[in-house]
Amino acid sequence: MGARPTRAANKPCRHDSLLVTHLPNVRYLTGFSGSAGCVLLTPRRKYFFTDFRYEAQAAKEVRGFDIRIVRRGSLDGCCRYVISRKIKTGVIGFDGAHISLRDHQLIKKLLKGFTICDAAGEIEKRRLVKSRSELVKLRQAAKISDAAYTKLARSKVVGKTEKEIAWMLESSMRQSGSGPMPFEIIVASGPRSAMPHGAATSRVIRSGELVVVDMGASVDGYCSDATRTFATGPLPGKLVEIYQIVYAAQKLAMDCMAEGTVCLDADRFAREHIAVAGYGAHFGHSLGHGVGLEPHEGPVLSSLSKDTLSAGMTVTVEPGIYLDRLGGVRIEDTVLVGTRGVQPLTKFPRELITLR
Ligand code: GLY
Ligand code: MN
Ligand code: MN
Repeated sequence: MGARPTRAANKPCRHDSLLVTHLPNVRYLTGFSGSAGCVLLTPRRKYFFTDFRYEAQAAKEVRGFDIRIVRRGSLDGCCRYVISRKIKTGVIGFDGAHISLRDHQLIKKLLKGFTICDAAGEIEKRRLVKSRSELVKLRQAAKISDAAYTKLARSKVVGKTEKEIAWMLESSMRQSGSGPMPFEIIVASGPRSAMPHGAATSRVIRSGELVVVDMGASVDGYCSDATRTFATGPLPGKLVEIYQIVYAAQKLAMDCMAEGTVCLDADRFAREHIAVAGYGAHFGHSLGHGVGLEPHEGPVLSSLSKDTLSAGMTVTVEPGIYLDRLGGVRIEDTVLVGTRGVQPLTKFPRELITLR
């Protein structure tokens, strides 16, 4: 589910240098965790540009780059540095999927006389397969969210508002060492559970309904993403039925996934199961997406995807059925793709649990 991860630029961009402005890409390359900075990779040297506020932080976090502290914005400073120092860049590719119109105009204006091209997706491609050290952080993030689910399962939720539950989960994850939430926690109860992205409201949770909780933790910027749907007492038969269908669809998809699986096939296995059960029209989002430094990144697991799974990718598997006015079910896990199968990183039980 969620935003469509970056697609590569349409035309191939044969570049000699790369200007990287999207912060998760900058973080991936440099380790820099601040909110302002960009990278220029040239054939001879790697530069990192930031401003005064991040001088000490960059010195601590960024290794192997020529660090330049610039005035105005880092992108502006980078372009002016290239010109004033006559840096040999050749053709410069830029992070086209994430650049604002204003920044694009700035580059065009300041780097007049340089050839630039859209190198969208270039760093994202490198980020698809996770390294060992990235996996350590992803596992930690998954563990933190599992612990919060365990705490939730022992808590009383009936009579509390969705917002109170969301806050309890967020504070629990922060206390366990999570960084900022990768996305706003979803707590959608009763009929609201039919809203796939139902952010927590002041609605009071009642007994005998469904509660969809979708949350993730972050560790050094690496995210987890997991959804559980709970009951709060005996449910109408139809809601139990859709729970079992979603549960089976997720298992089917996970069982068929491994290195080499074509992503649209994984989506199709889950989707067909739900369609055969009669609920195809109620599963309107994709099966999953990559997770890493961003809560939504490549590959895409959807019916339109052109991606194929490789060992070392971390992706979500999250089928759902949403019945207007009645309620919805989604079960989501972040899994690591291996050569022979997938290994869930988020491990909280998937069976239907009834909360008090
Ligand atoms: N948390 C949003 C999603 O599952 O994609
Ligand atoms: Mn997700
Ligand atoms: Mn999610």
